[in-house]
Amino acid sequence: MAVDSTLANTAPINLVPLTPAIGAEVKNVDLSAVGENSPQLDVLRQALLDHHVLVFRDQEVDREQHKAFGRLFGELHVHPSKRGPDAKGDPEIFSVRADENSTRNNGGRWHSDVSCDEMPPMGSILHLKTAPPAGGDTMFANMHLAFETLSEPVQRMLLGLTAHHDGLQDLRWYGYEPKPGFTYPATSHPVVVTHPETRRPLLFVNPAFTSRIEGLSDHESSSLLSMLFDHVAQNPTLQCRVRWEPGTLVFWDNRCTQHYAVWDYFPHRRHGERVTIAGTERPQAVETS
Ligand code: SIN
Repeated sequence: MAVDSTLANTAPINLVPLTPAIGAEVKNVDLSAVGENSPQLDVLRQALLDHHVLVFRDQEVDREQHKAFGRLFGELHVHPSKRGPDAKGDPEIFSVRADENSTRNNGGRWHSDVSCDEMPPMGSILHLKTAPPAGGDTMFANMHLAFETLSEPVQRMLLGLTAHHDGLQDLRWYGYEPKPGFTYPATSHPVVVTHPETRRPLLFVNPAFTSRIEGLSDHESSSLLSMLFDHVAQNPTLQCRVRWEPGTLVFWDNRCTQHYAVWDYFPHRRHGERVTIAGTERPQAVETS
C-alpha cells in the first residue's frame, strides 16, 4: 500500500516540459511514497492541469501502489471490456500488451480513453513493465490547443454541434465482431467541451470512438470529422512524444488530451498496466452568450 509520508519525498518537485504544448517530465518524486497528506500531491494536481501529461521515470510501484496513487485523484474506472460477469483479472487494471502474435496494439490510433462512456475517464496512469528495444513511443496531443488553433468561423460552427461516440466502432477496429445482443457503451457529447476544472474549451472528437456528428448529412459529418482528425494528427505543434523504459509511469489528463501508441516494434514485446480514474460528470458544452 502507498505510504503516506510527509517526511519522505521532501526534495522539491522539478518539472521539465517535453514541448511548449504538452507534457512534462517530473523529477524528484517516488510515487510509492505519495499519499493523501503528502505536500507533493497539490503540486502534481496543478502540474497535470498545466501540462496535461506527466512522465515519471524509474518508478517501482506494485499494482496496489499503482491503484492507491490513482485513488488519490478519484475512484477507479472499470473498462467496459471488464464490466461483464465473465471478465477476467483485476477489474481496475487494464493491461496493454503487444507481441509477436499481435495483429493490433492497444491504442494504435488517436483517441481519448473510453470517450463512449457517459462520463469518460478523468485520467489514465500507465506503468510500463516491458519495453521493446526501440520504438513503442506514445504521442499525445493537447486538445485545448487543437480547438484554439482552428479558425474563428470553424470554432463558431463547432460550438453548436454534438457528436456520437460508439464503443463498438473501436472494438471493430480491433477485429472484434459483436454477436447479436451484445451491448457496449455509446453516447453523445458536445463537439467542444469545457475542462471541468480549468473551464478552458477543448475539441472533444476522436477517430477511435466518434462515429458521426448529429444533425449533419453523412457526407458533411464524415468530411468535417476527417478535417478535425487531420488537424490533430498533422499538427506536431500540438503534440509531444513519450519514450518509455521499464518503470516509466505516465499520467495523462484524459479530459483534454488524445494519445496514439505507436506500433513500430513488431515482433518485439511491450507490456504495461493502466489504472484509469473515473470521470465524475458528463462533458459540458461551452457556454456561449
Ligand atoms: C492506451 O492507453 O491507449 C495505450 C497507451 C500506450 O500503450 O502507450
